[in-house]
Order: sequence, then C-alpha cells, then structure tokens
Amino acid sequence: MFAAVFVTGLAFASWLAFPIVWETDSNADRIPRAAVQSEALIVDEARCAECHADITAGYHTAPHARTLRQGTDPDVIARFLSRHFLREETGVEYSYIESNGMLMVRSSAYAQPLPIEWVVGSGTHASTPLVTIPNTNEGTSMIEHVVSWYPSGELGITLGMEELLEKHGILALGHPRPPEETINCFGCHSTFVPVHDERIDFDHLQAGVGCARCHWDLKQHLFDMDHTGETTIERFSELSPSEAIDRCGECHRRASELGGEIRPEDETLIRFAPVGLSKSPCFLNQDSALDEQGNPIRFDCASCHDPHGPTNPDWRFHTAVCNRCHDAESEHVSGCSVENRESNCLPCHMPSVPANDFLNFTDHWIRIRENPRRE
Ligand code: HEC
Ligand code: HEC
Ligand code: HEC
Ligand code: HEC
Ligand code: HEC
Ligand code: HEC
Ligand code: HEC
Repeated sequence: MFAAVFVTGLAFASWLAFPIVWETDSNADRIPRAAVQSEALIVDEARCAECHADITAGYHTAPHARTLRQGTDPDVIARFLSRHFLREETGVEYSYIESNGMLMVRSSAYAQPLPIEWVVGSGTHASTPLVTIPNTNEGTSMIEHVVSWYPSGELGITLGMEELLEKHGILALGHPRPPEETINCFGCHSTFVPVHDERIDFDHLQAGVGCARCHWDLKQHLFDMDHTGETTIERFSELSPSEAIDRCGECHRRASELGGEIRPEDETLIRFAPVGLSKSPCFLNQDSALDEQGNPIRFDCASCHDPHGPTNPDWRFHTAVCNRCHDAESEHVSGCSVENRESNCLPCHMPSVPANDFLNFTDHWIRIRENPRRE
C-alpha cells in the first residue's frame, strides 16, 4: 500500500494512505491523541482574549485558524468567482459561479453546477474545494476538487491529481472521498467534528485548528482561573522534545506511524515535517548542545515556529536558531566546515523542494546532502 500510494509523488492521497480512526486509534495508549469528536474540545475561545490578548489578537493570521472555510466565505468566493480553468490533457472546462451566496462549480463534464460547501487550506500553500456529491444519503462523502487555488493567484491541478484524466461525469471533478476519508480530512483541519452514523453534523462543526486542539483540558483551565486563580494547564515546555513534536505530528505526521523504511532521499516524506526533524542529528543529539549555563539547548518545532501565526520567511531568523548550537566561537557543537556562520544554511541543509509548479515544501531532515543547493 505504501509504495502504491506514493507513486504520484507528494500526493494529497498520501495523507489518506494511513487510515486514522479518530477515537479507536490503536496507538492511543502510547501516543496521546485529542479525540476530535470529544465535547471536551468545545470551549469558549472568546474568553482566552481576557487574559491572553497577545496571542488571540493575531491568531486570525495563523494558517491554523483559517485552514477550513465555508463556500459562503467572501474571501474564498473571491478566489474562484467568474474564473475558468481548462484542463488541457482532458479538454474539460471548469468555471465558478455564486448562487445564493454559495460558491458553485460548473463543468463541461457534468450536467449541473455543484455546490462547493467547504474549502480546505488557508491559501499560504493551496486552497482546495470540496464539492458536494448530489443525492448521497449514506455517510458524509465529498469530492476533493481537481482544481486548486495557489498563492500566486493562479488556478492549477490539485497536488496528487496529475493522473486524474476522467473526461466525463462526476469523476472528472476530482477524487470522491468516502465517509471515513472525508471525516479524516475535516478531522485534521478542524477543532471539533461531531459525527453520527458516518455523517458530519455541520451545524456543530468548529472549522479551523483552534486553541483546544493543541492545549488540552481548557475547560479545567477556565474553571481554575475562575475559581482558584491557579492553573495546572500542561505547558509545551514541560513536554520532552519528542513528546512535543509528536503532538504536532498528530496532524503533521509521525515517523512511528509510517510503514516501511524511512530514507532521507524519499521526497514524499518532505511534507511530513516531524518525520524529517525527528531523524535529524540536531534533534537526536540536542542534549549534547549546551548553553552558557551548561543547560541543554531545547530544539523542537517551537524553536522556529510560532503556531499562533504564519511561518517566518526570513532565513536570518532560522539561521540564528542553527547558530545557537553551531556556534563556532564557543564550545557548543562544531560549525560548518564549508560556509561561515553568516551564510544562509537553509538551501544546503534544509532546502525548499518543489512539489508541483506552484507549491514548495521545506525538507525538515537537517543533514549533509550529496547535492546541496538545488535549483
Ligand atoms: C482569567 C484569565 C485567563 C483566562 C480566561 C484564560 N487563561 Fe490561560 N492562563 C492564565 C494564567 C494566569 C496562566 C498562567 C501563566 C503563567 O504561569 O505564566 C495561563 C496559562 C495558560 C497556558 C500555559 C502557558 C504556558 O506558559 O505554557 C495556556 C496554553 C493557556 N493559558 C491557554 C488558554 C486558553 C486557550 C484560554 C481560552 C480557552 C485561556 N488560557 C484562558 C489566565 C487565563
Ligand atoms: C489539529 C491538526 C494540527 C495540529 C495538532 C498541528 N497542526 Fe500545524 N497545521 C495543520 C494544518 C491543517 C495546516 C495547514 C494550514 C493551511 O491551511 O495553510 C498546518 C500548518 C502549519 C504550519 C505552516 C504555516 C504556514 O505559514 O504555512 C506550521 C509551521 C505548523 N502547522 C506548525 C505546527 C506546530 C509547530 C504544531 C505543534 C505545536 C502543529 N502545527 C500542530 C494542522 C495541525
Ligand atoms: C492527518 C491529518 C490530515 C488529513 C487526514 C488531511 N490533512 Fe490536509 N493538511 C494537514 C496538514 C498538517 C497540513 C499542513 C502541512 C502540509 O501542507 O502538508 C495540510 C495541508 C493541506 C492543504 C494546504 C495546502 C498544502 O498543500 O499545504 C490542503 C489544501 C489540504 N491539506 C487538503 C486536505 C484534504 C482535501 C484532505 C482530505 C481529502 C486532507 N487535507 C486531509 C493535515 C491533514
Ligand atoms: C497548533 C497548536 C497550537 C494551537 C492551535 C494553539 N497553540 Fe498556544 N501554544 C502552542 C505551543 C507549541 C506553545 C509553546 C510555544 C513555545 O514554547 O514557544 C504554545 C504556547 C501558548 C501560550 C503560552 C506561551 C506564550 O507565548 O504566552 C499561551 C498563553 C497559548 N499558547 C495560548 C493559545 C491560545 C489562546 C490559542 C488559540 C487562540 C492557542 N494557544 C492555540 C501550540 C498551539
Ligand atoms: C539544539 C542544537 C542544534 C540546533 C538548533 C541545530 N543543530 Fe545541527 N546539529 C546539532 C548536533 C548536536 C549535531 C550532531 C553533531 C555531532 O554529531 O557531533 C548536529 C549536526 C548537524 C549537521 C551534520 C549532519 C550530518 O549529517 O552529519 C548539520 C549539517 C547541521 N547540524 C546543520 C544544522 C542547521 C543548518 C541547523 C539550523 C537549520 C541546525 N543544524 C540546528 C545541534 C543542533
Ligand atoms: C530549524 C528551524 C525549523 C524547525 C525546527 C522546524 N521548521 Fe518548519 N519550517 C522552517 C522553515 C525555514 C520553513 C519555510 C518557511 C517559509 O518559507 O515561510 C518551514 C516551513 C514549515 C511548514 C510549511 C510548509 C513547508 O514545508 O514549507 C510547515 C507545515 C512546518 N514548517 C512544520 C514544522 C513542524 C511540524 C515542525 C516540528 C516537527 C517544524 N516545522 C520545525 C524551519 C523549521
Ligand atoms: C553552500 C552550501 C552550504 C551552506 C550555505 C552551509 N553549509 Fe554546512 N555543510 C555543507 C557541506 C557540503 C558540508 C559537508 C562538508 C564535508 O563533508 O566535509 C557541510 C557540513 C556542515 C556541518 C558538519 C560539519 C562537520 O564537520 O561535522 C555542519 C554542522 C554544518 N554544515 C552546519 C551549517 C550551518 C549551521 C550553516 C549556516 C550557518 C551551514 N552549514 C551553511 C554545505 C553548506
């Protein structure tokens, strides 16, 4: 299964190769996983602003917050409305209209326009419509659309659908996702997904990755703050670096969940940041990098990312993180034998790799490469 799914490269389908059954995960004892269907996730996020305004004020800029939106959202509609896309390989045309405030797709391959009730992806990398399948009564099942919007403003083929060459009928619109896959899709892009008999209860869904998906037990935190003023809330800094990246790996993927051999040359892994980072000598040997006081320098996702906002595109910021340990002037860890500390480490040791014409991912497996500086 592993190899078969990965033949199309960095396919979206690759997420779905490893079935996730949210509440009955067999690794649940070993690796904690927030149950996306648990009512414990429903907290009044408006209240966080009372005391954490520094974080809540900017949270709307975080791709996490905007990763799933409805087809009635004006920003989402504006990306597609009145545009046309011709798939040259098949001759199929797609155009986008608005009807009763909802984005719809019309295609030369299918008789009637179909509603786009949801769009996945904030747009920092891509926004992919989910097309509603007409007349389905069983579970919630949607079509992942073959056309996506990319940050350059262009419409292009959805990553992983290069091989989809249907010319007629509903299959020309994209990959139909059966209920289990559709629910997983919403599961990683939402805070709370109530499901009954394989049907998502959209009236109570909380779209976007909100505070409760990463900070567990917030009901208790609010209760404590209201009653005692003392909090026992879990802090990420109290988790070990491996536990911390496993928490991100619930959605970004974990090495322990991949089957088969994990090799650095396998470019399909580049999408799964925690897999690469967890294999990097820097992460594995972080205990040997000591600060001036002799304490280990902690290294996990939060060293470079603030999950409450967008990524920092400035290489100087990231190189400064490298130099915290690879500090030639003190007795931490040896520096580069090729370039000086002022150089940009990323193109050689942590490059950005194209996944298709519109989209790049960053290889988080920090290492010495045979062919550094890829074009
Ligand atoms: C009435 C004030 C109050 C409210 C409301 C509140 N918090 Fe807190 N929170 C605190 C205080 C005080 C601390 C402890 C800060 C410290 O010790 O540094 C804290 C700690 C935290 C921490 C741990 C911080 C760390 O150092 O790792 C997180 C995470 C957190 N709150 C999230 C939330 C979220 C999410 C909400 C909304 C559901 C929320 N809080 C609502 C007051 C509040
Ligand atoms: C509940 C699932 C989930 C968890 C848990 C999660 N993420 Fe994400 N993350 C996402 C999704 C979905 C996106 C894609 C956002 C978008 O649509 O652009 C994302 C995007 C990102 C991005 C890219 C942001 C950008 O500017 O493009 C970073 C960085 C990131 N996450 C870091 C983290 C870190 C660090 C953690 C752990 C502390 C974490 N994530 C935990 C789901 C999750
Ligand atoms: C295991 C959790 C998980 C599942 C299941 C999942 N995603 Fe994601 N998705 C993520 C994370 C994490 C990111 C951010 C990192 C990345 O871009 O790969 C993301 C990013 C995206 C993006 C942003 C564009 C991009 O390529 O970065 C789109 C669009 C997207 N997912 C669509 C989907 C669709 C459609 C489905 C269901 C068919 C789905 N995802 C299922 C976790 C998941
Ligand atoms: C994708 C996972 C994720 C989400 C979603 C998330 N956080 Fe955090 N949060 C973290 C991580 C990781 C840290 C630790 C950061 C660090 O160590 O620098 C953190 C730290 C904090 C802290 C303490 C550190 C500080 O900078 O004051 C507070 C308070 C907090 N988060 C509140 C919130 C609130 C409020 C929300 C929702 C608006 C939220 N978080 C959403 C992952 C997340
Ligand atoms: C927390 C400390 C720490 C941080 C931060 C860090 N490294 Fe490292 N790095 C190490 C340690 C420790 C080793 C292993 C050294 C050894 O084996 O003696 C290492 C090894 C390496 C190696 C050699 C890898 C190999 O294949 O042998 C490279 C290259 C490297 N780091 C580059 C970087 C770059 C680039 C960054 C920033 C993107 C970075 N490191 C961030 C601690 C760190
Ligand atoms: C040494 C710094 C560093 C660490 C540690 C790190 N990242 Fe990144 N990450 C980057 C850089 C650099 C980018 C590209 C940022 C940009 O161009 O805006 C990036 C981009 C991303 C993206 C956007 C998609 C992509 O591949 O470009 C995601 C998602 C992401 N990181 C997740 C994570 C997660 C999850 C972790 C922890 C397992 C992590 N990162 C740890 C430096 C880091
Ligand atoms: C032009 C590409 C390039 C840049 C830029 C670069 N490196 Fe390197 N680095 C290399 C190559 C190639 C090697 C392997 C040299 C060898 O095998 O002798 C290397 C080796 C290393 C090593 C292992 C050294 C050893 O002897 O064990 C570390 C650590 C390292 N680099 C860190 C960094 C850091 C940190 C930066 C940014 C400040 C950086 N590099 C910038 C290409 C580069």
